[in-house]
Amino acid sequence: MRQPIPDVVAHRGASAHRAEHTRGAYELALEQGSDALECDVRVSRDGHLVCVHDRRIDRTSNARGVVSELTVDGMAGVDFGSWHRELPGSADELVDWTGPAPEHGVLTLDELLGMVGDHPRPVRLFVETKHPVRYGGLVERELVALLARHGLDAPADPERSTVLMMSFSQAAVRRFRAAAPLVPTVLLFDRFRGSWRNGVLPPWADIAGPGIRLLREDPGFVARAAALGRDTYCWTVDDPADVELCERAGVRYLATNSPASTRSHLADP
Ligand code: G3P
Ligand code: CA
Repeated sequence: MRQPIPDVVAHRGASAHRAEHTRGAYELALEQGSDALECDVRVSRDGHLVCVHDRRIDRTSNARGVVSELTVDGMAGVDFGSWHRELPGSADELVDWTGPAPEHGVLTLDELLGMVGDHPRPVRLFVETKHPVRYGGLVERELVALLARHGLDAPADPERSTVLMMSFSQAAVRRFRAAAPLVPTVLLFDRFRGSWRNGVLPPWADIAGPGIRLLREDPGFVARAAALGRDTYCWTVDDPADVELCERAGVRYLATNSPASTRSHLADP
């Protein structure tokens, strides 16, 4: 039987073409017809969830600093866009904190949820919590509170939940599941532990989240997980050969930095 077409998930937005985690990257991903968006979140010093991948903002902005030591207002004045246009080089300059607000200040998860909610088409959002263990559950607590403010913490039909939570941390996924049992979870991993290889995942992880490297070695994992009721979310899939491999294997969600190109390589885009 032919496999269903995987959903295209824009990884950090259309991040091959626009600076990752910026409003522009997500707008392009939506224009390109992505089924879902992916973002990483961290907590700022003043307790807001911001869409930043690294512990520090140095790589993706024109300033330096640790996210958890910066405020949202401070990061609103930092330019998270130009480094991508000007690669390589200018990311080492210190920001002029007194200058006009940049076109791409930090994007908060609150704002990204607003973009998703305002979009005319149903779009899903995969939210990855970063380094949740170090902060003892703070990221998940803030996430559940924010989802509650958007009315997204207890979807009537979890299969169609707008938001899905994911993490490499088992503790984080378990904690989130306890706080928001109806929001689907993805357990991310880049190596198999114990019986995961057989598709046996912990009960609090709804979806298996292997890296593409694992599926190149063992595409049969997807069918074994499916036989035990688990869909697969695979990251990060940009190479056309990998896109085809994932589609053949039956991957349900495909995270890619190039949504338009990935879609064009699916059998029935
Ligand atoms: O979508 C999962 C993937 O994003 C995990 O790796 O480092 O890109 O957050 P990373
Ligand atoms: Ca991520």
